[in-house]
Amino acid sequence: MMPLLDAATHEPPSILTESDTGEVADLYARCTDYFMLQDGEPATLADAIELFRDVPEEKSAVDQTVMGWRDQNGLMAVTAILRDYPSDGVWYLGFMLVDAAARGRGIGRSFYDTIEQWAVDRGAQEIRLAVLEVNAAAERFWRSLGYRELRRVGPDKFKARSHHRVELCRLLSGNLPA
Ligand SMILES: CC(C)(COP(=O)(O)OP(=O)(O)OC[C@H]1O[C@@H](n2cnc3c(N)ncnc32)[C@H](O)[C@@H]1OP(=O)(O)O)[C@@H](O)C(=O)NCCC(=O)NCCS
Repeated sequence: MMPLLDAATHEPPSILTESDTGEVADLYARCTDYFMLQDGEPATLADAIELFRDVPEEKSAVDQTVMGWRDQNGLMAVTAILRDYPSDGVWYLGFMLVDAAARGRGIGRSFYDTIEQWAVDRGAQEIRLAVLEVNAAAERFWRSLGYRELRRVGPDKFKARSHHRVELCRLLSGNLPA
């Protein structure tokens, strides 16, 4: 069994760029459980590239920040957040993934807390995200962090699968919604 990770002893999350695509692809390969659930097939290198490029058409890739968290074994968590979408002050967490072997040890919560503070420091008043309806474990995770349901969306196509998603939101303390 791997030793428990102590979040306090790790380097802080860092901003990733397309030059980190290979590391993202390696992380995705260690998280096939999630991609089977979402897509019905394992992730490809193209999916890792998409993490950096796939933003709504009214936004540009520079509006999105991809962050990663590394330990001695490499990238153990990744997330992407889009500023001011769908409106000013609302930031959209497009994706978050923790290495399958490292889940349930507080990494997701610590990583999220850092990202949220980072976004607040840059003007975020609310964070939204969408979780697949079939991803009950992740929905519980987000609800445990104070997220509440905004609406249901879909169905939308994900490769070999189609999903309804639950859109969740969290108003950030000390700020009023836009
Ligand atoms: C969802 C995910 C990011 C959570 O990261 P994690 O490191 O496993 O979560 P943590 O260990 O930090 O857990 C934080 C809290 O959520 C709770 N939680 C985490 N996973 C849970 C689960 N499967 N069921 C119930 N609660 C859960 C924990 O009990 C913990 O609460 P606590 O701090 O009060 O004890 C991670 O499991 C993951 O990458 N899953 C696959 C990809 C995914 O679903 N991403 C989300 C897409 S919207």
